[in-house]
Amino acid sequence: MIEKELKKRNLPDLFLGGEQTLSGWENAKPKIKDILLKEEYGYFPPHITPKISTLINEETFGGKAVWEEVNFTFEKNEKSHTVKTNLIYPKGKTNLPFFILLNFRPDVPDKYLPIDKIIDSGYGVFSVCYKDITEDNDDFSSGLSALFSSETRSDSEFGKITIWAYMAIRMMDYLQLRPEIDKDKIGIIGHSRLGKTALLAGAFDERFSFVCVNNSGCSGASLSRERYEWSEKLFHITKTFPFWFCKNYLKYSNNEDKLPFDQHFLLSLIAPRSVYVGGAIEDTWADNDNQFLCCYASSKIWELYGKRGLVCTERMPVENDVFMDGELGFFLRSGGHCLSEMDWDIYIKAQSKKFNL
Ligand code: GCU
Repeated sequence: MIEKELKKRNLPDLFLGGEQTLSGWENAKPKIKDILLKEEYGYFPPHITPKISTLINEETFGGKAVWEEVNFTFEKNEKSHTVKTNLIYPKGKTNLPFFILLNFRPDVPDKYLPIDKIIDSGYGVFSVCYKDITEDNDDFSSGLSALFSSETRSDSEFGKITIWAYMAIRMMDYLQLRPEIDKDKIGIIGHSRLGKTALLAGAFDERFSFVCVNNSGCSGASLSRERYEWSEKLFHITKTFPFWFCKNYLKYSNNEDKLPFDQHFLLSLIAPRSVYVGGAIEDTWADNDNQFLCCYASSKIWELYGKRGLVCTERMPVENDVFMDGELGFFLRSGGHCLSEMDWDIYIKAQSKKFNL
């Protein structure tokens, strides 16, 4: 039944015509990365090292956590932009596991940032509000984009998702410098457009040991071919949010068969690390069948590394399915489009099991 559905999508080959082996995959990987950046998200801007300044508040959340405001100041071509972030972690602990959270708002706590749950589970969290990186619109002279964008954006120049992911990667650079953090236990989490962003950052930066991709839908962890009638298509997303992507992506609107990739290319880049794709039953816009099939089609790459990929039943997913036993997890919770406490519970539980926490 699953195979039949997958066949209908007629997906491009993950091995790009090469051998279906681990070395075939490793050979295809650089090309796959290049295709995704060139045709969909746009190339990352060059690495520049920001100046960091911090303000510390030791007395937060009943004294159980340390809260630091960390400011990243980027300078280039006489332009400068500062991004404010929040670093919160259990007090007096070492070897901390950490989440980088891409959020819609700067607030702590926030409805998508259940701080007590995260701290009480033994994790730290490093959060940023995406609009503080660059505005969510077609203005490439806003925020961090202004430092890198050309006046007439070239066809493969970064879109906003790439620049948000760029910031997450700079946050990862910073966490490498912190002695209280276990560098092998840093993950990333994002919801919806920021789920797409978390997926991109996690796929391109191997330092992320786990990636939580919540309700990411179209151009995230959901296949673009043969989408459910009432779900978002490339036509919708490239019309309403063309600036999330590079200009090359627009040519695939209503033309998905011509895509030289599908979203399983991006998901597979995370192998053999852990990735979790979270769906919500009422979030039909994201196309949950295609999120599941994206996982299913990618799973073989984890197996090539000797890992368990997607461990699931032999049928399409139904409400309350939780397939989190492999390194490639998928679940379909009840309710609608949001990053809920239930989602956090599922991600933390799965990851803590792997970290023996
Ligand atoms: C819109 C968009 C989605 C996106 C979502 C969000 O619904 O069409 O692709 O995931 O916004 O970010 O909330």
